Amino acid sequence: MTVEEFQEQEEFTADGWRDIWEKGQLDQSAEKVQAQLVQFHSLLLAPQRTNRIFVPMCGKAKDLLWLAGKGATVVGTEFAAYACESFFKDNNVPFDVVDLDGVNGKAYFSTDDKLNITIYQCDHYLLTSSMVGFTFDGVWDRGSFNSVPTKDRNKYVNHMKTLLTSTATMLVVVVEYEIISQSDERHNIPSAEECLLSAFAPSANIEKIDRSITEWQGVYRATKATILNPLRLELVLRGTPE
Ligand SMILES: C[S@@+](CC[C@H](N)C(=O)[O-])C[C@H]1O[C@@H](n2cnc3c(N)ncnc32)[C@H](O)[C@@H]1O
Repeated sequence: MTVEEFQEQEEFTADGWRDIWEKGQLDQSAEKVQAQLVQFHSLLLAPQRTNRIFVPMCGKAKDLLWLAGKGATVVGTEFAAYACESFFKDNNVPFDVVDLDGVNGKAYFSTDDKLNITIYQCDHYLLTSSMVGFTFDGVWDRGSFNSVPTKDRNKYVNHMKTLLTSTATMLVVVVEYEIISQSDERHNIPSAEECLLSAFAPSANIEKIDRSITEWQGVYRATKATILNPLRLELVLRGTPE
């Protein structure tokens, strides 16, 4: 299998993601707030600021609730209506839903005055700062850049830049595995870290702020490739795109 074939099979359509959600395969990932967010939130949230935080491709991450509990204005994007609805229901946050103007999708938003959370249920790449009404001070990206097919990663970064203030900080958690195909062929697939560096460079400072290796317990979704090394390398990177 070539790298191109691997990357193709890695790709998920909107229906593919919806299907995974409806089968309950991602519910577990939203059970708790991510430890890295709790550990590194002070790099993202400034005391004297509005703290408009973007959580791209958010699923039903509890992180949205945690950030809003810290007083942030939180906005997510997510394809799957199931994930958007479950986020509010599972966390007992009252919400309302409206159709988006000119874009195929809906906005799910908290009606609790103390929790400012909106999830745009639409293709992430259709979100604009004029839809939201502002640009973001920070981004919490856990598993989003990671789930973007390698060939779309520049598109992801370029789109992200249109949504941010000039001093915004991105915290990105990337996970890497060593992958081989069934024919025991090792892949020379660029790591997520390499992709992030090349997608942002030269107009960003990228700083590695944490690196942890844990025993791998997940289920890798690719059909023709297997995980060789049952270890999971998690990197937390901080970037300031221009
Ligand atoms: C691996 S999950 C990560 C979820 C979340 N960030 C977390 O930490 O739990 C990736 C999510 O991105 C969503 N997604 C992928 N591509 C998308 C797109 N183009 N627009 C909107 N959502 C997308 C999928 O539906 C899925 O919920």
